[in-house]
Amino acid sequence: MSESKPDIAKIQKELLNVKHPELKKDIVSLGMVSKIEPTDDGVSIVLKTPNSDRRMQIGMEAQIRQVLSKIENTGKPKIKFEVDQNMKFDEGNRIRGVKKVIAIGSGKGGVGKSTVTSNLAAACVNAGFKVGIMDADIYGPSIGKMFGSSGRVPLKVEDDRIYPIEKGGIKIISFSFLVNEDQPVVWRGPMLGKAVEQFLYDVVWGELDFLFVDLPPGTGDVQLSLAQLIDLDGAILVTTPQQVALLDANRAAAMLNQVKIPILGIVENMSEFVCPKCGHSSAIFSEGGGDKMAKGLGVPKLGGVPINMEIMQSGESGLPLVLKDKDSAIAKAYANILANLQEEIKNWE
Ligand SMILES: Nc1ncnc2c1ncn2[C@@H]1O[C@H](COP(=O)(O)OP(=O)(O)OP(=O)(O)O)[C@@H](O)[C@H]1O
Ligand SMILES: [Mg+2]
Repeated sequence: MSESKPDIAKIQKELLNVKHPELKKDIVSLGMVSKIEPTDDGVSIVLKTPNSDRRMQIGMEAQIRQVLSKIENTGKPKIKFEVDQNMKFDEGNRIRGVKKVIAIGSGKGGVGKSTVTSNLAAACVNAGFKVGIMDADIYGPSIGKMFGSSGRVPLKVEDDRIYPIEKGGIKIISFSFLVNEDQPVVWRGPMLGKAVEQFLYDVVWGELDFLFVDLPPGTGDVQLSLAQLIDLDGAILVTTPQQVALLDANRAAAMLNQVKIPILGIVENMSEFVCPKCGHSSAIFSEGGGDKMAKGLGVPKLGGVPINMEIMQSGESGLPLVLKDKDSAIAKAYANILANLQEEIKNWE
C-alpha cells in the first residue's frame, strides 16, 4: 500500500546526520549511500565502503537505526555494507563520492565545449552511469540554458550545503543559477575562489561515476587556477578542425601539462557536414585536424561529431539531443566517445 511506504527523500535528508565515526563527515557527502529502497516491511539501505572494517560499520549502522526510528514506515530496516575496493576517502581537494572528475576545455571559445559536455553527460545516462555537470564557465555559463533553466534558479540549500538540480537524470550546478541573465558577471579573485570552492565542495553530489566540468575557454590565469583548484582526474579538449582552433587547443594542452593534468583525449567537433538529404559527408573546415593534433600531443582522438542542425536546436530546447534521440547517429557518436574515454581512463589507472 502506497501510504505505508517510507518517505525516501526524508530518509536521504536524515542520513546527513549520520557521521563516519573516524572521518567525522556525513555518509551522504562521503558518497557511501548507494541505495535507499522501500521494501515490503520497511526500507533497505545499501552503503558502500572501501574496506570491511566492522567497527566503523557498526558505528554507522547504530546511528542509521537511530535516525530511521524517528521516520514513519521504516519498519525493520535492512542495512547492508558493500565493499568497493575502488572507493577511496581521499583527503585534499577530492570531491567526495565522485569517481572521476573530468574537465572539458578548449583554447578557443565557441567550439562546442558546452554542447560536448552536455551530450557526453547524456551518453553517460544512456549507458547507465550516474553523472553530474559543473558549469565552471564563469564568464559565459550556458549549461543551465541547454537544460532549460536560464537565469537565476533557486537552489535548495540546507545546512550550508547546496543541492544540484536534476535534468534528464543529470545533476547540474551552474554559476548561471546564481546570477540574473542580463547581469554581467564580474568575479574578483577572492570571491571567485570562494564561490568555486563552495560549488565544488559544498554541493551534495551524492555518488557519481563522472562529474564533467565545463571550463571557461582560454588559457589565462582563471583557467589555470580553476584547473588547479578542482582536483581533476583528467581533461578532454574540444576543438574544431580549423587551424586557429587547433593552435588554441595546443595552448590549452600546454597549460594542462604545466599543472600535470592528464589529457584524456581530443574531441573534434563540427568535423564534417553530413547532408541531411543525401547523407553525403563533406569537410567544411579542413580535414584531419583533430587527428593531427592528437598525434602531435601524443593523446588519443576520442571521436568526432559532425555539424548537425538538431544538435544546435536541442541546445536551445532544454534537453541534449543524445538524451532526446537515443538511437540517432549523433547519440552513437557520443557513445563511441564515452567508450574511448573509459578505455583511456583505464590506461591512466
Ligand atoms: N556539432 C554541432 N553541430 C552544429 N552546431 C553545433 C555543434 N556543436 C555545437 N554547435 C553549436 O555551436 C554553438 C557554440 O556551441 P557551445 O556553446 O557548445 O560552444 P562553447 O565552446 O561552449 O562556447 P563558449 O566558448 O561560448 O562557452 C552553439 O550554438 C551550439 O549549438
Ligand atoms: Mg560554453
